[in-house]
Amino acid sequence: MNVTLRGETRPCRTVTFDTQRNAVLLIEQRLLPHEFKIIATRNFRETASAIRDMIVRGAGAIGATAAYGLAQGARQFRGRDLEKFSAHVETVYQTLQAARPTAVDPVNAMQAVREAMIGGETVEEQQSLAQAAAEEFASDDVRHCEEIGRHGAKLIRNGMSVLTHCNAGWLAFVDVGSATAPMYAAQAAGKKFHVFCDETRPRSQGATLTAWELAQQGISHQIIADNAAGHLMQRGEIDLVIVGSDRTLGRTGEVANKIGTYTKAVLAKRHRIPFYVAIPLSTIDWNLKSGSQIPIEERHEHEVLGAWGVVQTRNSKLGTRIGPRAYVRVANPTSGARNPGFDVTPAELITGIITPAGIFKPAALWRHRRELGFVV
Ligand code: MRU
Repeated sequence: MNVTLRGETRPCRTVTFDTQRNAVLLIEQRLLPHEFKIIATRNFRETASAIRDMIVRGAGAIGATAAYGLAQGARQFRGRDLEKFSAHVETVYQTLQAARPTAVDPVNAMQAVREAMIGGETVEEQQSLAQAAAEEFASDDVRHCEEIGRHGAKLIRNGMSVLTHCNAGWLAFVDVGSATAPMYAAQAAGKKFHVFCDETRPRSQGATLTAWELAQQGISHQIIADNAAGHLMQRGEIDLVIVGSDRTLGRTGEVANKIGTYTKAVLAKRHRIPFYVAIPLSTIDWNLKSGSQIPIEERHEHEVLGAWGVVQTRNSKLGTRIGPRAYVRVANPTSGARNPGFDVTPAELITGIITPAGIFKPAALWRHRRELGFVV
């Protein structure tokens, strides 16, 4: 998408690969919305750390990062011994996979890269096939998001208010986004609508990233506290909910997404508000048979006990000044916290799943598995 900084507009992707330097280039998302910076990871271990430490986050974006990270790791290998090379690639795979457990996109992305590598007979051939497959995954991610936009835009009508949770925007993918794709497509079609962004504690991806994206694209929006959606729904101020997903079970239609998604789905059902989930094909897990089997990431308690931000000072002579990013302890100093990062929304609370192949009832995913990319 286009990014405008200090009056200059340029197209930008969340994740790219620099072949010359064998580096993965990432937007440093922890600094947004206060600072826009691109960083380069120089080896697969740095790439895994960037995923774990959430420099890059969002299922599609960490999927593409893992695909590039696998290619990067494969290209780091020196030598011609295929057996040693395979053992090295396995280490790269395991390191990247362990970075974050809930999203299935990194696994699907790296699986695709590994399958492509089988076609190579030498280390060198496999290295170049890995790079090409990672690029293909990234392009597919963009194409899938554009298709989601095409199918999902019809759900948004003039004058609507749409609620979204966390960030399932272009920052959570290579470009365009999943939950935001219908919004960007509806905007391009000239529709006028308003978006409520859940703040999404504890890391506030809605207040920081989704709000920044929508502001950049000129879409009318407001940030709401995570607890405000029920009240707004009760007053008829929310017409539609669209969220993303980190893992959607193809067999059951259950959806793992950022903590708090389930609560919003229950509220939407109570108020008869349509609740949609937007996903590219790489987010579908065709193996697991129940949402209770999805590994839910438990994160550090300091995310709940405090918050990151910048100190903003106003001075009549100097104007508004933004200080460095800092962590502020909010909670009672002697209390601990529990911090599950994701939850699972049952299929019966979901009106439809917006995919690149069309909009499906959650229970119909399995029936449409061939169209949705399931390979036996
Ligand atoms: O912890 P995060 O910021 O990686 O969580 C992101 C989300 O939960 C998104 O909603 C999700 O990845 C779906 S959109 C890719």
